[in-house]
Amino acid sequence: MENKITASNVNLYYGQKQALFGVNINFKEKSVTALIGPSGCGKSSFLRCLNRMNDTILNCKIDGEILLDGKNIYHDDLDLVLLRARVGMVFQKPNPFPKTIYENVAYGPKIHGLFQKKSELDNIVEESLAKAGLWNEIKDRLHDQASALSGGQQQRLCIARTIAIEPEIILMDEPCSALDPIATAKIEELIDELKENFTIIIVTHSMQQAARVSDMTAFFNMGKIVEYGTTDKIFTNPVNQQTQDYITGRFG
Ligand SMILES: Nc1ncnc2c1ncn2[C@@H]1O[C@H](COP(=O)(O)OP(=O)(O)OP(=O)(O)O)[C@@H](O)[C@H]1O
Ligand SMILES: [Mg+2]
Repeated sequence: MENKITASNVNLYYGQKQALFGVNINFKEKSVTALIGPSGCGKSSFLRCLNRMNDTILNCKIDGEILLDGKNIYHDDLDLVLLRARVGMVFQKPNPFPKTIYENVAYGPKIHGLFQKKSELDNIVEESLAKAGLWNEIKDRLHDQASALSGGQQQRLCIARTIAIEPEIILMDEPCSALDPIATAKIEELIDELKENFTIIIVTHSMQQAARVSDMTAFFNMGKIVEYGTTDKIFTNPVNQQTQDYITGRFG
């Protein structure tokens, strides 16, 4: 498998405060990587580096290098709209647009001009909802408001909205933390299917979830990557004592 993203020596500062220290990590194409670690260790900050979402935060400065297919995403002439289309993001709280279910999924393809005829757009909407495991539940309600869906359905709608523009990478920041166990299981199943086509990087506080869905796991602490390896290795035989303590729930 190829390296899809390579981060080298990434430092991140919020004003005077440094939040990431010399982060080095590679993400393999079409795999799932879990980012784990205690609250405030920098997982979300790092995830946001990967599609330059930190650009919107005043005072946030980043140095180091992040390559996507070998090209530096912090290069001056990078097209941000294109970057965000290639690197999609799903957030902790489902955040559908205040529009219909159909319009939520159609929005990205419209902006990016991904179709010519209405029938093509209809197909994109159906396929994206199907891939997100939502089509059968809502195919008769496409023109209802998205806000009428349950939380778990809204999160799958947000995933459908993300995949509708055919990103290469999907970033997920605690995508299940607002969901019940059944909705969570559905998203986890979905992640397993999505990795056939997408490179997925997921932040999670659930050790069980990380162990279930990911191929690789990175353990962050205090802004640094303490250990990175196959999920198997991290959860059964970690090298570092801090990793061991964290995964066994003994972390201070
Ligand atoms: N916009 C911001 N401005 C200033 N400091 C910030 C900002 N966002 C995050 N931080 C700080 O950066 C550090 C890392 O935060 P981050 O949100 O990346 O952690 P996290 O690992 O995602 O935590 P959690 O598991 O609680 O979501 C924390 O000390 C946090 O207070
Ligand atoms: Mg976070």
